[in-house]
Formats: sequence, structure tokens, C-alpha cells
Amino acid sequence: MKPIIFKIDPDAIDRALIRQAARAIKEGLLVAFPTETVYGLGANALDADAAARIFEAKKRPLDDPLIVHISDRKDLEKLVRKVSPAAEGLIRRFWPGPLTLIFEKTDVVPDIVTTGLDTVAVRMPAGRIALSLIAEAGVPVAAPSANLFSRPSPTTAQHVVDDLDGAIDILIDGGRTRIGVESTVVGFSGDETVILRPGGVSAEEIKPLVKRLVVAGSKKDISSSPGRYATHYSPKAKVMIAEEGPDQVKIALDLAAKCIVGGRKVGVMAKKEHAAFYKDLDVEIMGPEKDLGHCASELFHILRHFDKKGKDVIIAEAVREIGLGFAIMNRLRKAAS
Ligand code: TXA
Ligand code: MG
Repeated sequence: MKPIIFKIDPDAIDRALIRQAARAIKEGLLVAFPTETVYGLGANALDADAAARIFEAKKRPLDDPLIVHISDRKDLEKLVRKVSPAAEGLIRRFWPGPLTLIFEKTDVVPDIVTTGLDTVAVRMPAGRIALSLIAEAGVPVAAPSANLFSRPSPTTAQHVVDDLDGAIDILIDGGRTRIGVESTVVGFSGDETVILRPGGVSAEEIKPLVKRLVVAGSKKDISSSPGRYATHYSPKAKVMIAEEGPDQVKIALDLAAKCIVGGRKVGVMAKKEHAAFYKDLDVEIMGPEKDLGHCASELFHILRHFDKKGKDVIIAEAVREIGLGFAIMNRLRKAAS
């Protein structure tokens, strides 16, 4: 069954359409919707059967837990046992926004949502469509990214259709998402605040607010971040990374030359400053080197664009691993592994 598509302008929200989508959620159906990070595939988080349909639609393994989305701080109380001072500080600073926090769960949250864990991931998104949908539904909304498992996350409604056409009931098209990479997932362990997945809120922004910040999944250890699957965010094309440094362009050009000699179709994802060096190749610009927010917002978009063009190989320029650059490189390394 094709999804019913509701086109909604985030700056002039059509309440009647939101009400209809919210009713679908309450009835146990699947509704894909935009958040400020990526599109989510939503279902009533308190309904185990509805949550099970999410895993089915995405072909997601049953040991990869979902994020529960709320629209009001008060909704947190019934989902979690306690909110530590560290969590409280992060909530005050970053919600609504691209930050997911891990808490001990209450029995209200069905086991399938957390894949049997004692903890639940909760986030209050900042996107207006997401917030009004959740508020109108009157229930927390479980929503992973609305892509097929292991594919790059969707940043447009078309991406959702490309992956999940036939598996969802309603798709809210609210245009392109602003941030373009997923939320930062943060857990707590004793005195430590742990970044489990880098994302829309950077480590630098979190650090001043907590006692001790630990980042799981450094450059050499990408498998320790949750999602827990090394291959992730993958386009169909093979991704190769040209690392940062004075030789970056040369490395990328050499890789491209080798692939082309081997008869493979190559796309290059480059920083704006380097674009001219690749003028004889098919190049897409991530953004200016200094504007890592812009680069992040283009990342999944470009990977999917090159897939549609039937590329065999995507050569991606690495960016500096600071701010949002850390999330970008985490996704790129997983896509390349
Ligand atoms: O920006 C986002 O976070 C998007 C939008 C739709 O909100 N959602 C998203 O969900 O990216 P998903 O399912 O693709 O990623 C959820 C991540 C996974 O890496 C999962 O392992 C982790 O959150 N996670 C969920 N529950 C967890 C838990 N109890 N403990 C540790 N990690 C958890
Ligand atoms: Mg995902």
C-alpha cells in the first residue's frame, strides 16, 4: 500500500492534517514525519504491536532499540524512573532539540521499544511538525530514522518513499530537514556523561554542562557506539575516505583515477574550497570547510544522490573532527566500513 502523503508547511501548520496523522498514530498505524534532524518513522510508543510494525517496515534487527519522542517535559515522568541532575541540566539547555538521553525505564514502556533493555532513549525534537504531531497524538511516539535498516537516514520525504514505499500508512512531507544528521545520544554512568552516538549537539556544547564527558566510539573504535552495527548509513556505492591533510586532494584524485581505470563510476563529495580540483569528475559540494553544520546537512543527501545516479564508488573528503564534524566523520566511517 502506498502511503498517503500530507504536504505540510512547518511555518503554517495545517491542524486538520496533523489531527488526521495523530489519529492514525493512536490507532496503531505508522506515520513518517520530519524532525529537525532526519525523518522519523513513528508509532505509538505505548503500543507494542505498533512498535513491532516499525521493526518490520525498516527490516531492523530486534536488538536495536528505538527512541521515544515527547512534546512536553511532563511526559518524561511516566516513562522514566528518575532524572539525574546531569540529565536535568542537559534537558534544560537542549530540549527541544537534537539530543537523546538514556534513562532507566518504567513498565509503561513496552519491552519491544527498548529491545528488552532496562533503559529507554527519550528525545524532545525541535521540529514544529514533529512537536505538534506528538502533542496532538497525546502519546509518546517511538521513531527511528525512516530509512531501511543500514541505509543513510532520510532528509527529504522522497528519501522515505525511496526506502519505505508500501510499508507505511501516512508520510508527512515537511520539506528538507534542517540539521541533516541524527540526534546526539547520551547515556550516564556514575559521574560520567557518555556520548554514545555523536550527532546534532556537539561534544563541545555538552562539555561545560557536565562533570566528566566521555566519548564512546573514537576514530579507531567505531563499533562501540550504539546502533552497534559497524555497517550503517551505507549507500549502495562503496564509500572511500580521503583523509584530512595537505595531500587530501591528491589522495582523492588518485583514488578516483584508479577506480575509473577499473571501469567504475565515481562521484566525489568535496569541500567547497576544493571543488575546482575535481572539475573533470562528478563532484558534489558538502559546504565550506568552516561551516560544518552545512556539511552535515548535505551528507546523507549527497550519498543518496550518488546512489540514484548509479555510482559504484563515492570518494568523500574527510572534514575536521570538531563540532558537527565529529558526527559527520562517525557516519562516513561507518558508511565506508
Ligand atoms: O535524530 C534522531 O535521533 C532520529 C529522529 C527521527 O529523532 N532518530 C534516530 O533513531 O536516529 P534511530 O533508531 O535511527 O537511532 C537510535 C539510536 C540507535 O543508535 C540506538 O542504538 C540508540 O539510539 N538507542 C536507543 N535506545 C537506546 C538505549 N536504551 N540505550 C542505548 N542506546 C539506545
Ligand atoms: Mg537510524
